[in-house]
Amino acid sequence: MNDTKTLREVFKKTTYQIAGHSKRDLHQLQQVLSRVDGNVEGDMYGTGELIENFQRKMAEYLGKESAVFFPSGTMAQQIALRIWCDEKGIKKVAYHPLCHLEIHEEDGLKELHQIEAVLLADKNSVIELDDVLGMDDDIACLLLELPQREIGGQLPAYENLEAISRYCREKGIRLHLDGARLLEILPYYQKTAEEVCALFDSVYVSFYKGIGGIAGAILAGDEDFTKQSKVWKRRHGGDLISLYPYIVTAEYHFEQRKHKFSQYYEHAKELAALYNQCQGISTRPTVPVSNMFHVHADLPKEELERIMVSLSEETGIGFTHYVRQDDESSSSYEVSIGDRYAMIPKEELALAFEKLHQKIGEQKSNAV
Ligand SMILES: Cc1ncc(COP(=O)(O)O)c(C=O)c1O
Repeated sequence: MNDTKTLREVFKKTTYQIAGHSKRDLHQLQQVLSRVDGNVEGDMYGTGELIENFQRKMAEYLGKESAVFFPSGTMAQQIALRIWCDEKGIKKVAYHPLCHLEIHEEDGLKELHQIEAVLLADKNSVIELDDVLGMDDDIACLLLELPQREIGGQLPAYENLEAISRYCREKGIRLHLDGARLLEILPYYQKTAEEVCALFDSVYVSFYKGIGGIAGAILAGDEDFTKQSKVWKRRHGGDLISLYPYIVTAEYHFEQRKHKFSQYYEHAKELAALYNQCQGISTRPTVPVSNMFHVHADLPKEELERIMVSLSEETGIGFTHYVRQDDESSSSYEVSIGDRYAMIPKEELALAFEKLHQKIGEQKSNAV
């Protein structure tokens, strides 16, 4: 029997799920389309009021001169780095060893653009000013991913970000923000999107993470930068004749959720505290700095999966639909808080956590 499949199946049948907003099914599109005016004209190859108004609105929200809608963040960011490399005549950028470009994009930056990457900081820490100061290489651009997703969504202190930004400006190094989860970090920093983006030359934001759209991304910067990005978008085949299904859902969910990120952040802290009371479990970071964190267990993957299956069946609460193996004796999974968490009755959640604590205890004493 395949345990992962079983956990996924059991998870799907639970009454409540802890993470995310809702199922990723077609209702998401149906719901939004039923609310929009069908007479509005669709966009065509990046032109038309629908796309242009949305781009203007996002540019204003991010405090940038201009913005371009892209089908994916992968495309938008490779293009951003290409533009900055061409500007400086140096095909080298720096970023974190676990950033999206390095581990999830099949070396797109290197294969498509022949851009070399300098990996900064230890993979378990965020990039700090000392990492940037200690760099020997001449680079065109530094990319910061905030929050650093693969290490539980950690963040540098805001003053350190400001110091990195100042240093890059002094040295003529472009600073790009992988802000796939930009709205998620604003409550911790107590800053507006505009304030954070002012530290960066270019910014990318995703519409399907905390915002909860279907797909799509915005890339923002000055006029000259976004003008060039449109040319590259066409070269990459990203200039779809119509992007409106993504744009209308992105805009709808952005409006629905842009004020809810403090709630997600508070809930993430509350939930992490519940996890940290369980034996054999810890969260990374211990106190979340956004709506996300990673749950680490001192149990092999198969054992944690078994516990999650029985816990979900007994309580009707889906903690996770997957578990990944860290090493032979430990495993983990990611949690990102959205709308769903608030729907779970608090008493039921507390009881489910008591059960989790108990089940891990039993598992550990059986193993002795
Ligand atoms: C931090 C980060 N950057 C970039 C991306 C790429 O986004 P897309 O899936 O739209 O290509 C992701 C997607 O998961 C991400 O998490």
